[in-house]
Amino acid sequence: MEIKKNVEDDGVIFMSIKDNKVEEAKESTSKKDGDVTILAIESSCDETAAAVVRNGREVLSNIISSQIALHTIYGGVVPEIASRKHVEKMNGCIKTALSEAGVTLDDIDAVAVTYGPGLVGALLVGVSEAKAIAFATGKPLIGVHHIEGHISANFIENKDLEPPFVCLVVSGGHSHLVVVKDYGEYEIIGQTRDDAAGEAFDKVARAIGLGYPGGPKIDKAAKEGNPDAFTFPQAKIDDAEYDFSFSGLKSSVLNYINQAKMQGQELNQADVAASFQKAVVEVLVSHAIKACKEYGYNKLAIAGGVASNSGLRELMEKECEANKISFYRPSPVLCTDNAAMIGAAAYYEYQKGVRFGLDMNAVPNLPLGDRERRFHGRQ
Ligand code: KG4
Ligand code: ZN
Repeated sequence: MEIKKNVEDDGVIFMSIKDNKVEEAKESTSKKDGDVTILAIESSCDETAAAVVRNGREVLSNIISSQIALHTIYGGVVPEIASRKHVEKMNGCIKTALSEAGVTLDDIDAVAVTYGPGLVGALLVGVSEAKAIAFATGKPLIGVHHIEGHISANFIENKDLEPPFVCLVVSGGHSHLVVVKDYGEYEIIGQTRDDAAGEAFDKVARAIGLGYPGGPKIDKAAKEGNPDAFTFPQAKIDDAEYDFSFSGLKSSVLNYINQAKMQGQELNQADVAASFQKAVVEVLVSHAIKACKEYGYNKLAIAGGVASNSGLRELMEKECEANKISFYRPSPVLCTDNAAMIGAAAYYEYQKGVRFGLDMNAVPNLPLGDRERRFHGRQ
């Protein structure tokens, strides 16, 4: 993956991500009969994104306009600012995605968009845009669950990956262990009881003075620290062995910080970061490996923003190798929010005949794998 970045006057980072293999083959991969080309849109949080994806796995263009720098001064995403920036950036992202893919709206077979879960105002920008394009062009409209998009990011670079497999989904709002039974069919076998893994990273980062966004900053600081400096607790839930709980771990880190402050001790940010990351990563890896073994799957994928964590990737790779499990992970830039993953998920929905009506709405708390809800509004 090759990433071209440009910081705009308002602080927004504009990124064009190119898959070199697709770029080299672009000439020979011009549209064939039966090909399905999808324009995908994502705006569930603080990234405005558009992509053109062919047949679910070939990313012709992938544009992300990241507002992260605008929210950093507030220590987290401000929903109102996010929605307004999405409105400003959306058309530009789509225009660039189409032109970099070398297509026009006429060449598109369907328009796909994240319709939940996420921030309602932010989601509504993408949903309205997708509905407007579908209405104006008469093309089919497909609503995609954001987390199903994250899972589907694995299909882009792993052309051989097919369900069934186990997927660990770890993002800012979700920590789920899922069996991907078929395309678009999910069985949740474990989930967090309290904070999501990404949320814990963000809160701990703020507490130790690393600021927002916490995940990447802890990841970086942890590389300089000693993961065995402190032993933070790893919660086990007796009646649900695949569930997670990160609030005890987070509180334990916060207690340590308060105590250190009261005793006038200097805080070693890197050691706290490394020890905290180790505690989170070990729980995530052990649950995922156990699930593969007990459910009898030899393929394991990871997805979501936290899946870009270098400690998680390293330990998961090691443990998969030791247990003869094939390990799949998207490139870090496809782990965090993007529209290419939405296009990948949408392709399999398209093939199943899923079509949404223009009554599609944003659903901020959309549950994963809830077919009934997803088919609401079908034409
Ligand atoms: O999937 P994502 O981009 O957005 C949501 O759907 O939530 O995930 C964002 C989360 C944030 O909590 C962020 O701190 C975390 O992913 N994250 C990381 C890393 N990069 C992003 N956490 C740990 N290590 C990272 N390298
Ligand atoms: Zn996400």
